[in-house]
Amino acid sequence: MPQYIHDNTEDEFTHEDFINAYLTSKGADIVNLEQFRTLPSSTATGARQIGRLTNLMELTVDTSWWTRYRSRTMNPDFGDTFPQAIPSLAVGMHPAIPRTDDDLTPKDHIQAIANTAGFHFGTIEQGGTSLYPSLAQRVTNVEVLRIVLSIGPTEAMHFQTWQDKAGNAPPLTDPKDPALVFPNLNAPPFGGEDFQTNLIMPEPTIFLSRSLPVCSIVRPTGTKGAAMGAANFLTAMGLFRGQSPAFFALLRDLAEDADDAKRES
Ligand SMILES: [Fe+2]
Ligand SMILES: [Fe+2]
Repeated sequence: MPQYIHDNTEDEFTHEDFINAYLTSKGADIVNLEQFRTLPSSTATGARQIGRLTNLMELTVDTSWWTRYRSRTMNPDFGDTFPQAIPSLAVGMHPAIPRTDDDLTPKDHIQAIANTAGFHFGTIEQGGTSLYPSLAQRVTNVEVLRIVLSIGPTEAMHFQTWQDKAGNAPPLTDPKDPALVFPNLNAPPFGGEDFQTNLIMPEPTIFLSRSLPVCSIVRPTGTKGAAMGAANFLTAMGLFRGQSPAFFALLRDLAEDADDAKRES
């Protein structure tokens, strides 16, 4: 898990740095969120005390991608909704990192935090896996299309890795928060094709039209409102809990600009 975290983090920094450098090279505005690094760090031993952009200590993790990518008959682009793999993670607020040294014990409590992180990574990366193909459909310039098509699939690599990792989350109940339960996804009432943990490639499902054969695809990839959808999804999971109104105004502004983009021919 530490290797995956370091690799994934490095990748994301390069995505940010490359896109901003490319924008600069074309004389375009860059996106700089430095002024919003204001959220507190964990005070657990080893955590650097710096301002943070995101809050990883009060997350509400949507785990419906687990069943969405295992469905052979439904697709969110057709309006379908999907059951949660870990229902108790999708309600309330849960730490994905130790908040203080108190969170380091007992063993099942820190494991519950690691399980939360494992599913949270999958949630973030499935979002990125959809976002790039969704926005690629607005791109006119072929070099920009190349950038979007070259970065997007790395998000799918992240997603699949984390989906595999989340599948290894030991079943347990958090002793410090008994409402948080990680069930055995391979056993009844879970189990079966929708939940089994070693099924980490997309099941083929309906795509574009029900009259066409099913297809193994990323979903959703609808382009309408995709950027605002991503901003709302990140906000709803509590990732920016504690951020200022100015931050959310900028986030909405960026999403509106992205959703206003139109492919020209
Ligand atoms: Fe990325
Ligand atoms: Fe990623």
